[in-house]
Amino acid sequence: MCDIEKNKKEAKIIALAGKGGVGKTTICSAFVRIISEKYPDARILAIDADPAVGLSTALGVEVKETLDDIRREIIELAASGAGSDAVELLGEVRYRIFDALTETDKFAFLAIGRPEGAGCYCAVNEYLKEVIDMVSRDFDYVIIDGEAGIEQINRRVMEKVTHLFLVTDASKKGTKVAESIRQVADELVMYEKCGAIINRVEDMSVIPFINIPDTDIIGVIESDTAHAKNDIMGKNIFELPKEAPVYVGAKKALVRINILESI
Ligand SMILES: Nc1ncnc2c1ncn2[C@@H]1O[C@H](COP(=O)(O)OP(=O)(O)OP(=O)(O)O)[C@@H](O)[C@H]1O
Ligand SMILES: [Mg+2]
Repeated sequence: MCDIEKNKKEAKIIALAGKGGVGKTTICSAFVRIISEKYPDARILAIDADPAVGLSTALGVEVKETLDDIRREIIELAASGAGSDAVELLGEVRYRIFDALTETDKFAFLAIGRPEGAGCYCAVNEYLKEVIDMVSRDFDYVIIDGEAGIEQINRRVMEKVTHLFLVTDASKKGTKVAESIRQVADELVMYEKCGAIINRVEDMSVIPFINIPDTDIIGVIESDTAHAKNDIMGKNIFELPKEAPVYVGAKKALVRINILESI
């Protein structure tokens, strides 16, 4: 291995997983904001891996082209014979992905997109896995808002994730989903660190009763009226006051998992 390659900093690949509606997108967007503020020179990529979308609104960006659009174009290109050489096709995929990124002065953004019609979207998930691998060489932080549930962990889409956040509310349903994800992730994700965030907590006295086996609770976020109001008004995470519980709690969790050195 040559020196340049050896000295290259490995990307931190951060993913959020958990039951539906527990705050994955909210916390993911807060992570993007906080990391971009703390490390303004870092190359950050936010990926909306949920076909139901939402991260773009939370971050205040427009989606140009989705990963699924690119997948379709490449299939057409291959079928037409225009890019019959595999190496050529791979180069084309890479070029199109970078072209499809929405760039802001703080971060880049990519959405997986929703395949048309009903049915399985395994193909685009398979694509996403390769893309995470491919783009992680060009970014310092890749922050992925996962689809609700366990499917993307099961399908090894999150295989290369280095920091896995299990998001849950205080409900037993939520913590059980976090527990199952943790168990599967232990087999299928090569993570360095994993921790749980308990979000939207109404009553802090319940926290000592929450237990996710073998999992540290690295963050507790109270119910945040400023965030809820912002969400209803269609405001993005950059418009949230820094004293809001979502901002403060997300920052503390990033410190606890050693993504940030200090508050
Ligand atoms: N700490 C909080 N306080 C108050 N409201 C919150 C908090 N966290 C999230 N919410 C609200 O809860 C709802 C669900 O949050 P969010 O969309 O982030 O969850 P999700 O896990 O991404 O959901 P999905 O599984 O549907 O993608 C949103 O309306 C969001 O504004
Ligand atoms: Mg979401």
